[in-house]
Amino acid sequence: MNRSRLITTGVAGLIAFAAVEIVTVVSPSAQQPAAGQVTFAKDVVPILQRSCQNCHRPGSVAPFSLLTYEEARPWAKSIKNRIQKREMPPWTLDKNVGIQEFKNDISLSDAEIAKVVKWVDSGAPLGNIADMPKPLQFEDPRIWHIGNGKPDLIVSMPKPFRVPAVGADVTLEFLAETGLTEDRYIKEIETKPDPKGFKVVHHAALDLVEPGAGLDASRENYGMGGQRSFLSEYALGKDADIFPADTGRLVKKGSKVNFNMHYYSTGEEVESTTSVGMVFYPKGYVPKHVVVTQHMGENADLDVPAGTVSRVDGYVMLSQNAQLVMIQPHMHSRGVRQCTEAIIPQTSGEVSRGNGSKTERTTLNCINFDMNWNIAYSYKEDAAPVLPKGTILHVMSWYDNTASKFNADSKNWVGNGPRSVDIMSYQWMSFFYLSDEEYAQKLKERALKAKLTNHN
Ligand code: HEC
Repeated sequence: MNRSRLITTGVAGLIAFAAVEIVTVVSPSAQQPAAGQVTFAKDVVPILQRSCQNCHRPGSVAPFSLLTYEEARPWAKSIKNRIQKREMPPWTLDKNVGIQEFKNDISLSDAEIAKVVKWVDSGAPLGNIADMPKPLQFEDPRIWHIGNGKPDLIVSMPKPFRVPAVGADVTLEFLAETGLTEDRYIKEIETKPDPKGFKVVHHAALDLVEPGAGLDASRENYGMGGQRSFLSEYALGKDADIFPADTGRLVKKGSKVNFNMHYYSTGEEVESTTSVGMVFYPKGYVPKHVVVTQHMGENADLDVPAGTVSRVDGYVMLSQNAQLVMIQPHMHSRGVRQCTEAIIPQTSGEVSRGNGSKTERTTLNCINFDMNWNIAYSYKEDAAPVLPKGTILHVMSWYDNTASKFNADSKNWVGNGPRSVDIMSYQWMSFFYLSDEEYAQKLKERALKAKLTNHN
């Protein structure tokens, strides 16, 4: 039986081989016109639209536009180079470990990268214009994405800032009144520069400053019940934060908003103001969950000798069950990588690993740090870590104090400090607490979903 099968296959194989030979000789290309050919119109434009054009268009942060074939073609080799190294689009999250479902993920898949590389290697052809998707319509940058275009409250920097045509990056703070006379909970929030500002605002980090809080309030004041707490952040490409159902962030009456602004010069002088828009829950309404954003796993005992790479560990225990919403490393220029693992207590004995261990360790995410891109990674609701009380979050940070383009001086020891040439070690995390019932319910829903999606 095996033998006859072998023979059959052999014969079929021979015939197929012969056929291919003949076709090749008779007509090298006419048989397969454009099959397998990758073109700009059909294959590349959809990728540029999703992952590049928000930055690579006139008036935005990138130095050249990728809207048309004529604009993109001269950059083909450079595009191949940058996307293969995963330097573009900026997305420094390690794709080989941890959770991968993020609301703001603009990264390319391996298949998309392969497609663009093939396009470049085959001479970057335009292809058939009829295959081109409709050009994106970039909306009026004054439009708010929250509250159907009408936030309940808009707070702006008290005066515009003039960014010089030429100069070093600057970081500045501006304090503005909210004018709120009662406590309110935010349902939706969006921060953005005015239209001219998109080019020069690298990022904006906004804090709430409660009445009586000193402006240089120390980090102990971050978080719940503190006097100064994280409010919102802007980096290009980010629209709005819409909190999950019945979840919000508290703004106490009389609070001010502190705008921490990072600008860069672009060759022309630009005067610009940044604003934050908020949509509130109805007056007097307290949502079930309050989102808090704070430094987690902080370690100030940093010691990185000259010419070395060091790891630093920070730990924080969750006093209640919690769902994580967002993570963002904070390291400064010598930071290269930050990983977070959850050390989860096992009380039920369901997890039996034969090693008598009463905890389970799981890596949530690793992020390769790059000072230039302050990306806040926002989990998709269904994939966000849901952790029981008693979980220890372990933040591991690596600092490279050897000679590199980001290191101003590799001959010096570095330690903890606020300047960008010092180092700091913590992770920003947004989260909200869950009651025991809600926690149990979430786990149940997820188990059910896993069962439904893994039915094969
Ligand atoms: C968040 C904004 C942003 C996004 C999204 C983005 N870029 Fe960029 N890109 C920049 C900025 C800013 C620079 C200049 C700084 C630098 O070179 O890193 C740049 C530089 C580049 C360069 C280097 C040009 C040179 O000088 O050689 C290439 C190529 C490039 N981008 C291609 C892309 C492609 C392709 C995509 C999408 C797959 C993309 N970028 C997405 C902001 C962005």
